[in-house]
Amino acid sequence: MALENLNNHLNFSGGPGALPEQVLKVTQAAIMNVPEVGLSVLGISHRSDWFRDVVDETENNLRELLGVPRDYHVLFLQGGSSLQFSMIPMNLLHGSKKTAEYIVSGYWSAKAVPEASIEGEVRVVWDGRDSGYNRLPAAEKLVLSSEAAYLHYVSNETVEGVQFSYLPGMSDVPLICDMASDFLSQPIAVDRYALVYAHAQKNLGPAGLTS
Ligand SMILES: Cc1ncc(COP(=O)(O)O)c(C=O)c1O
Repeated sequence: MALENLNNHLNFSGGPGALPEQVLKVTQAAIMNVPEVGLSVLGISHRSDWFRDVVDETENNLRELLGVPRDYHVLFLQGGSSLQFSMIPMNLLHGSKKTAEYIVSGYWSAKAVPEASIEGEVRVVWDGRDSGYNRLPAAEKLVLSSEAAYLHYVSNETVEGVQFSYLPGMSDVPLICDMASDFLSQPIAVDRYALVYAHAQKNLGPAGLTS
């Protein structure tokens, strides 16, 4: 199909976000041939210098847009945000004597809890289920431990549409945030977080990648 005829409507659903037509055109041409390499983009080694440059440029753009400090790593990982529900406790809770704290403010944060419970002790510090997840806790209502392994929350609950307007947690406990549906929608103070993650398919690109 010629992209000139594409009726690329704006997509206001939860995702995946519609890619700009210019991006689709460049992608279409690159599937046939990347001129400076002389190969289809699908046939270029993921270990090649050309692809390394693509990853480096993407990382630099992300660092610039979000003001990511130099002492923070930017990781591009396979899979979606749900995989992080497991990977985070596997890396930061498993084998620890500490308890991980979770704010359950909607459908997605509720899904993170059972995965973490496989790896260690979890304490739900607030749960909005009884009110149908139609509100968020006031900061002073959260009773938190300064000894927690980390505090996990979802900045914007995609299904219920509730979004935090403040950063929960204590400065001495690592703060972890699933920003899947509001990533890059506003500036964030990256240095207040230990870890921020978001799948690509809403605000960043097509599905299959999480940063
Ligand atoms: C806030 C949030 N977290 C996690 C997920 C799960 O993401 P994935 O489908 O990439 O596993 C979604 C999906 O829309 C989401 O909105």
